[in-house]
Amino acid sequence: PIKAFLFDLDGVIVDTATYHYQAWKRLANELGFDISEEFNERLKGVSRMESLDIILAHGGLTVSDEQKAELAEQKNQWYLDLVGRMTSEDILPGVATFFSQVRKANLLTALGSVSKNAPLILERIGMSQAFDAIIDGTKISKGKPDPEVFLKGAAELEVSPAECVVFEDAVAGVEAGKRGGMFVVGIGSPDVLTQADLVAPSLDGLTVDEVLAATVA
Ligand code: BG6
Ligand code: MG
Repeated sequence: PIKAFLFDLDGVIVDTATYHYQAWKRLANELGFDISEEFNERLKGVSRMESLDIILAHGGLTVSDEQKAELAEQKNQWYLDLVGRMTSEDILPGVATFFSQVRKANLLTALGSVSKNAPLILERIGMSQAFDAIIDGTKISKGKPDPEVFLKGAAELEVSPAECVVFEDAVAGVEAGKRGGMFVVGIGSPDVLTQADLVAPSLDGLTVDEVLAATVA
């Protein structure tokens, strides 16, 4: 039986996926090229430095490690400017209702995010206490699609992977959940999240019963 729900943060709980995209786009533009929204799908769930590598390769640029650190720092500053304005109003529609259903069903919860800014974002939106375990970018050595972040979440909750459902908006995140041996609910489009076991456009309108029923179907 399912005992725990593991949630990605950016793009599932809050719309920070668009902030990451805005900040990377600004960086790419300053470097003399552009990144499309479609290209951005490849960056979702991927760590900061790996994202930068993908972007630089896309623009055909090679830079020193020192410059790379500066570019990543610049992007993060722009990203933090956007995050700094966030409040509980920025929690995505349906999250509060879904979480109250999760509690009623006595399911455990964990956050599984590759972001080093995850604790700051949770604080901004007033959700620091909403999870039984928090795994963020400071606690892992491998970003998604490696399953590490979700396996650590399951371990901290003392449940097995087969007892977990992952909620993910990123192609890399869905892959991470599947590689971890978990049931994965894709949040977004079925055309993009092809590996997910179930796909919903958002948590809004989704019910815990519906998810649990899908895991036994
Ligand atoms: C993930 C995002 O949650 O965190 C990625 O989907 C982002 O887009 C990654 O690159 C790392 O985030 P941060 O905040 O540590 O730069
Ligand atoms: Mg995400």
